Amino acid sequence: MHLKALAAVLLACASAGVAAQAPIVIKFSHVVAPDTPKGRAAERFKALAEQMTRGRVKVEVYPNSQLYRDREELEALQLGAVQMLAPSLAKFSPLGVKEFEAFDLPYIFPSKAALYAVTEGRIGRGLLRKLEPKGITGLAYWDNGFKIMSANKPLLKPVDFRGLRMRIQASKVLDAQMRVLGAQPLALAFSETAPALRDGVVEGTENTPSNMFTQRMHETQKHLTVSNHGYLGYAVIVNKKFWDGLPGELRSTLEKAMAQATAYEKTIAQHTNDAALESIRRAGTTTIHTLSPQQQAEWRRAMQPVHAQMEERIGKDVVQAIRREVA
Ligand code: LMR
Repeated sequence: MHLKALAAVLLACASAGVAAQAPIVIKFSHVVAPDTPKGRAAERFKALAEQMTRGRVKVEVYPNSQLYRDREELEALQLGAVQMLAPSLAKFSPLGVKEFEAFDLPYIFPSKAALYAVTEGRIGRGLLRKLEPKGITGLAYWDNGFKIMSANKPLLKPVDFRGLRMRIQASKVLDAQMRVLGAQPLALAFSETAPALRDGVVEGTENTPSNMFTQRMHETQKHLTVSNHGYLGYAVIVNKKFWDGLPGELRSTLEKAMAQATAYEKTIAQHTNDAALESIRRAGTTTIHTLSPQQQAEWRRAMQPVHAQMEERIGKDVVQAIRREVA
């Protein structure tokens, strides 16, 4: 064979070999710190996926909005720039899927058990299927926990919210929740929240203790109230074309890895939030208030109108199915 032709054949063989060995890369982008329920579960999924596929899949986790902020990451997933995300259920309406905002309804879940009955049952599966026409496959629900409220004044009664500029996630239900309290909601990306609190763009916010602590929001919030008035959780989602294009046996191994990471996530979520609340307490920057049963009842009454206001938007069927499931 001519020397040049031989060289070309050798080069082609070598690059085919490299291609055969190159792992499939899953870029997993998220917006929170590594030391949160989501951050820790993403790392656990990476470890499990890489080990269970014997290195055929490599998972690159990008925390803290390193790659994309809230809204951009959904676009990046649809375009295939990243393969996996776990956005909060409050952030799906830009895709035209408003039903997930049911999870934002104040006091809709009386307990974690009631929540799991929804996410792990027929309703949860049905909601994930609504993502398919958007080019997205829903794999699992991950927990964070129930939210607390913070500001630079004690928030003990609904009237205490009057006029306060409060950061919310971009959910119309959360917008309505703040408005019925008389506050002024401002939807900001998660990465903008701690700076906005620091600079006084907003005066208060709601989130879970783990999100507040890891973003050091407590350092600029003098008071927080353990109100547990609403829930923050996630859907773990992948680009459907990418997922469907994986070899079947690899996909089912990754599904097993996801199931294990999800089980792990559930065992750490509450504990991670309890520990974060304790760390905030120890930091000494923030007075932590708990509500008496009467105050709880007052908050619940004040926020109740949000259900009727938002039922139409979310979808009556979904809201009523959830209510029946948790009753
Ligand atoms: C927020 O924006 O407050 C949360 O959705 C962040 C997160 O992913 O937990």
